[in-house]
Amino acid sequence: MSEAQYIQWFPGHMTKTRRQMEKELSLVDAVAEIVDARIPASSRNPDIPKLLGKKPMLVILNKCDMADSEVTSGWIKWFEAQNIKAIAVDCRTGKGIDKFVPTVKEMLSEKLKSYAEKGMAGKPLRLMVVGIPNVGKSTFINRMAGVNKAKAENRPGVTRGNQWFTVDKQLELLDTPGVLWPKFEDMSIGERLAFTGAVKDNVVDVELLGMRLVEILASSYPELLKDRYGNLDLTLDSYDLLGEIAKKRGMVVRGGEGDTLRAATTLLQEFRNAKIGKISLERVKENA
Ligand code: G4P
Repeated sequence: MSEAQYIQWFPGHMTKTRRQMEKELSLVDAVAEIVDARIPASSRNPDIPKLLGKKPMLVILNKCDMADSEVTSGWIKWFEAQNIKAIAVDCRTGKGIDKFVPTVKEMLSEKLKSYAEKGMAGKPLRLMVVGIPNVGKSTFINRMAGVNKAKAENRPGVTRGNQWFTVDKQLELLDTPGVLWPKFEDMSIGERLAFTGAVKDNVVDVELLGMRLVEILASSYPELLKDRYGNLDLTLDSYDLLGEIAKKRGMVVRGGEGDTLRAATTLLQEFRNAKIGKISLERVKENA
């Protein structure tokens, strides 16, 4: 990513995007929000429910190839219990993407029926696709529309003209105007967005972030952590754990100490590439 490496949201940009979205929502029948399956709560935009009013919505849990499948299934059930359709997909390979069109048609079956009754059977359904940066919105649109032009400028304040994509005779997608913001409510949300790379490393303290991630992994995925970095003593505090990981990888500084900053960088990279395994950082229980 280029400028999206350093994203800031400003109230002015947010207001402008919100207003434009409100206007364009009148053009669509429903909204599909793409979230990161590893952090389905923290990667949502907080204003969507309000903006939506009564329009139906579908949540697309993307990057499910990197998330814990059991946890993802739990999220799908949770969304459905809130009357929100949800599907898990991997836009990089296309896995699960075949569920998208049938799910939309099912969600909007009343609309399709009413079109048929009014003699407008060919009228396409229209859906707005939304998502905060880095959740894979462009990858999704490219895959669905079969074109390679969805990568618009991922910068707050840069709005584009309407971008419609035809998926099939019965479905058209509208890319969101502007760049959506995440929740700003608490530190742990920002931290999770930083773990996944949605908030960039040049705005956070990498060593501190690595310490937090190793602490979470030691408690939630101890076996995966050991499988990747060797037989670690998980009772150590997070700083010393990073030091251990560093030593196991031969990253030592003068005096034989582990280079904790390098270990933090490696840990974050390997988490983001799913090299440590399929890991979810948010479970329904704590976060719904
Ligand atoms: P955005 O428009 O929402 O900002 O996201 P974008 O599509 O640019 O995707 C952000 C990153 O996430 C990209 O990686 C993209 O390849 C990756 N991605 C999208 N969907 C999936 C998925 O389902 N699974 C996995 N594993 N990755 C996914 P990148 O490293 O930033 O770019 P690139 O190396 O693909 O060019």
